[in-house]
Amino acid sequence: MINHIKSLLAEVEAFSAASLEQLEEFRVRLFGKKGELTLLFDQFKEVAPQDKKMIGQEINVLKNLALTKIKETYELLKKSTKVDTSLDLTLPGDPIGLGSRHPVSLARNQILDIFKRLGFVISTGPEIEDDWHVFSALNFPPEHPARDMQDTFFIMQDPDILLRTHTSSVQVRVMEHQKPPIRTISPGRVFRNEAISARSHCMFHQVEGLYIDRNVSFADLKQTLLFFAKEMFGHNTRIRLRPSFFPFTEPSAEMDVSCTLCGGKGCNMCKYTGWLEILGCGMVDPNVLENVGIDSQEFTGFAFGMGIERIALLKYGIKDIRLLFENDVRFLRQFSSAL
Ligand code: DAH
Repeated sequence: MINHIKSLLAEVEAFSAASLEQLEEFRVRLFGKKGELTLLFDQFKEVAPQDKKMIGQEINVLKNLALTKIKETYELLKKSTKVDTSLDLTLPGDPIGLGSRHPVSLARNQILDIFKRLGFVISTGPEIEDDWHVFSALNFPPEHPARDMQDTFFIMQDPDILLRTHTSSVQVRVMEHQKPPIRTISPGRVFRNEAISARSHCMFHQVEGLYIDRNVSFADLKQTLLFFAKEMFGHNTRIRLRPSFFPFTEPSAEMDVSCTLCGGKGCNMCKYTGWLEILGCGMVDPNVLENVGIDSQEFTGFAFGMGIERIALLKYGIKDIRLLFENDVRFLRQFSSAL
């Protein structure tokens, strides 16, 4: 019996466990119903009285050693199992989904970049404007139809406070605060009381350009716009200027670019004309210069304005302007590779 106890002592001494399951097995092997220690205590009853003291002590030593071993091993395992072994730190990280810029932002950034390279400085103005900056300073006569409730959103029935219908209001603000030479480009949101359709919306974006200095001529305007068209739509792009009318420019023109889809041969997009209208422009009317305190004898200038949505529709071959305002991610995701 004493030999058996000695061998058990050695076994307990040497024991180690890699898991809680192994430890439990060990505990049952010693303290279970048919465990080694349980059996030893049973056999102890039969031990001769003169041996009882010595054997009893040995069994107790074994029991205490086993209990301490179990307790220690348990503490050790608990500490080490706190580390989540399901986490593999060597795996590559989860990819972070990149968003995409909105096509209107893409077109706007590209337009601004082109004019910035020509030395134009970005300026902005308020969306809630007054009559002076949107109409009066820009030489709109009092009875001009653009001032009508049909076209303009007025605020609180006040005929003086309105949502700007074009970004030309920003050129007035810039000229009021700066002396020529002025070379500025003004992007922004504009509002018109119009029915929403595939071609028009009541809220859209424009970019306004303005250049004021001594001896600025129509040739400068034409060359600037030709450079823009080639940069924006490709180097084979041609432009044509058609006479037009705007209250704030004289002479005024509308500019077409050769169709971005068929290159001018005629297709569905250009309605078989070979041309697409993209902007209005002209020489700043002397009345406008005088309205903002710039001497029209000394200075001349040109201005132009274009709708960003229209440029985006042409550039990306989008058929319906409403897609630009619905924020359907299936539509927007298509632009994730564009910069
Ligand atoms: N403001 C005009 C519009 O909203 C666009 C425009 C035309 C701006 C001619 C100009 C310009 O600066 O010279 O339709």
